[in-house]
Amino acid sequence: MKPILVSGIQPTGKLHIGNYLGALKNFVELQNSGKYECFFFVADLHSLTEDFDPKEKKAQIDDVILSFIASGLDTKKSTIFVQSEISEHSELAWILNTITPFGELYRMTQFKDKTQVVFNRLDRETEGQRNGRSSMSVELATDLATNVGLFDYPVLMASDILLYDAKFVPVGNDQDQHLELARTLARKFNSKFGKTFIEPQALHTEVPRLMSLDDPEKKMSKSRPEGCLFLDDTPDVIRKKIKRAVTDSGNEVKFDEKEKPAISNLLLVYSAFGGKKISEIEKMYAGKGYGEFKSELAEIVVKGLTPFQEKKKVLRREMEEVMKEVGDGNRNAKTIALKKMLEIKKRIGLI
Ligand code: TRP
Repeated sequence: MKPILVSGIQPTGKLHIGNYLGALKNFVELQNSGKYECFFFVADLHSLTEDFDPKEKKAQIDDVILSFIASGLDTKKSTIFVQSEISEHSELAWILNTITPFGELYRMTQFKDKTQVVFNRLDRETEGQRNGRSSMSVELATDLATNVGLFDYPVLMASDILLYDAKFVPVGNDQDQHLELARTLARKFNSKFGKTFIEPQALHTEVPRLMSLDDPEKKMSKSRPEGCLFLDDTPDVIRKKIKRAVTDSGNEVKFDEKEKPAISNLLLVYSAFGGKKISEIEKMYAGKGYGEFKSELAEIVVKGLTPFQEKKKVLRREMEEVMKEVGDGNRNAKTIALKKMLEIKKRIGLI
């Protein structure tokens, strides 16, 4: 039997080229390698931990499904499913909660980053208390109370993985700590209740760390739309964003992250979409200026995204058929999850 591979993407809005290069493109290669039994899912329960509009959620879920398939994931080769359709994910998360030390979650850097605002305020409050002010503000208490999901996020992620006996989990290295927790929980459960789970391993592939086109100091993200190339941006929008991308002083197209962060970032994009090494690209543009480089880069990105966009358009018209296939994926995932859950419940002594 092939080793099992599981990964998910959160439906939190528009996907950008960072998601494509970092996840989707990778998933497709892993699927097509034929080396793994692959499961790819829409992590919609995870996405509830961030602010959202219920009216938009379903469209966001559908968008990830369409992006999965448009980028080359194939329901005949991989199980594609929606996390919330498989209630066992939440069920196992609860059970794992009961063996998760509070401190492990409290140390998670992603949690700390996402709640930095709250923590900063907490620090100020504590300071205030020392200065004689009394209890925590209502505002702070509300902030802290609304985000238990954010705190517990890694436990749900561990469930996503352990439920399917996944050996490999393709993720960016920002998820390493979460994966380590999944391993810890697998070990802990096994030693307490008997061998039940496999310890999963992260599967890293080299992924460029893309920065915002309008500020190479900041990570490319949907929260800075002007500096972000979305997978659904029209050719004209892509051309416009690249044209307006900030550049560095001088005019030489050269990779130097310290001295030339903006051009280096554009070179990464060029290399990823053009399939050329950075050194080759530097040679191609020796003696030419930023202008020519940027306009050719725009065409390369447009050309790289066109097949994806075309396919997505066609799929959108066949939404019913797509959803039928995802329904099959859901059923397959459910069958596996149900069986695993029975095993888990027996181990614990619930049944
Ligand atoms: N936390 C992951 C991310 O933001 C998404 C995710 C949720 C995931 N559950 C998972 C990835 C399970 C791999 C396996 O990228």
